[in-house]
This record gives sequence, C-alpha cells and structure tokens, in this order.
Amino acid sequence: MRSLPKVIAINGSHRKGRNTAALLLAVLEGAQEEGAAIELIELVDYNIKPCLGCNRCVGKSQCTINDDDMTKLAEKLLQADGIVLGSPVYFGNVTGRMKVFMDRTRWLYLSKSLLSGKVGAAVTHAALRNGGQELVHLVLERFLIMHGMLVATSRNPDGAVYNNGATGTLFRAIESDGEIIWRRSVGDDELALRECRQLGRNVMKLVKQLKESYGVG
Ligand SMILES: Cc1cc2nc3c(=O)[nH]c(=O)nc-3n(C[C@H](O)[C@H](O)[C@H](O)COP(=O)(O)O)c2cc1C
Repeated sequence: MRSLPKVIAINGSHRKGRNTAALLLAVLEGAQEEGAAIELIELVDYNIKPCLGCNRCVGKSQCTINDDDMTKLAEKLLQADGIVLGSPVYFGNVTGRMKVFMDRTRWLYLSKSLLSGKVGAAVTHAALRNGGQELVHLVLERFLIMHGMLVATSRNPDGAVYNNGATGTLFRAIESDGEIIWRRSVGDDELALRECRQLGRNVMKLVKQLKESYGVG
C-alpha cells in the first residue's frame, strides 16, 4: 500500500504554539484537506548546535556534529515531500533559532542536493503591519530555492488576490486619535489564516503534480 505524501512544518519561534505555530497549523490543515500526512515540528523541542564552519560538508554529504538532534531533523527533511518553514520577524530577519537550523542543513545541499525536487513554502508573523514580513518571506524562500525545492505560493487560482504571501500581523487598526488596536493573536487574523490554508492546499497540489509527472512515491 502506498503511504500518504508527507508535509512537515517547521517553526523557528522560541515560543511554542503561538502565532507562527498557528499559521503553520493552518498550512498543515490545508495540506491535510488535500490528502497529506502532516507534522508540526517546533524547533524549540530540539537541541541544535550552531554550525562550526569546519567545511567538512564540502565534498562530502556529512556533518561533523552528530551528537545533537539535527540528525533526527535531517531524516524528517529527507522523508518529507513538502517542507514549510515558519519564522517570526526578529529585527527584520528570521529568528536566531531558525538561522541555526538553516545553517546546519548545509551538508544536505553542498556536495549533493539531497532536498532537491521537494516542495517548499514559507510563512512569517510579525507584530507590526509592515514589520519585515516580506523580507523574512524572501529569506526563507531563498533558502528553499537554494536547496533546489519548488516553492509554492498562497495564490488561490480561482479567487481574488488579497495578500502577497502567507504573512500575519498583530496590527488591526489605528483610531483617528492615534490609538492602535492590536489583535490578541494571529487567530483573529482571518486574512493570514486564509492565505495559510490556501498555501497548504497549493503545496499538496504541487506535490501530487510532481508525483504524477515523475512517478515518484
Ligand atoms: C527580539 C525581537 C525582535 C522583534 N523584531 C520585530 C520586527 O522587526 N518587526 C516586528 O513587526 N515585530 C518584531 N518582533 C515581534 C515578533 O515578530 C512577534 O511578537 C511575533 O508574533 C512572534 O511570533 P510568535 O508568537 O510565533 O513567537 C520582535 C520580537 C522580538 C522578541
């Protein structure tokens, strides 16, 4: 019996189960609707040491560090058909936790492109309305592209465009007296959640198209 295609979502927030996690869960919900087996990975649950810059992975698909949880995470990456990365915006960039994770995947990319041909996607969350979401989105997508992945977008092919990417904000509105109204959480950001669910569906549509075209799985 064939196993279901697997879509994993990786959260780079230091805060488990908060805004970025909620966006990633909405992506996974969309992917599940389209028939995926799903898993949310909270990086905070894993011990990931920073890259040593030893360059062992130049010429060999190997990492010097093998006494932390990156081995387990690499296995999950290799087994997944779709990989969704999520990070809150920290000073206009990804969190340090997400960057440490990204750097440690170098051995999967440098000598042989071991994640090539998978489907990738990105989500971001920030407090401010224009808090750096688009930049972080680009950083995450660039990483996925460097790994040779095909990047899915959150565009609904049958509907109107209402946001450029799966990004959320806590900003709701500003009153005429200047008072800012914040959302309690991304759970109130219907726009972001809709984008994320569509992104999940699109990830799976692409996974299925690739499997049909290349007969994989
Ligand atoms: C160190 C730090 C830097 C941050 N930098 C930004 C920023 O540049 N722009 C922004 O809008 N929000 C910024 N934030 C707010 C977070 O992006 C926001 O709280 C986000 O919702 C956190 O995601 P989480 O709930 O998944 O942890 C920052 C928060 C911290 C702790």
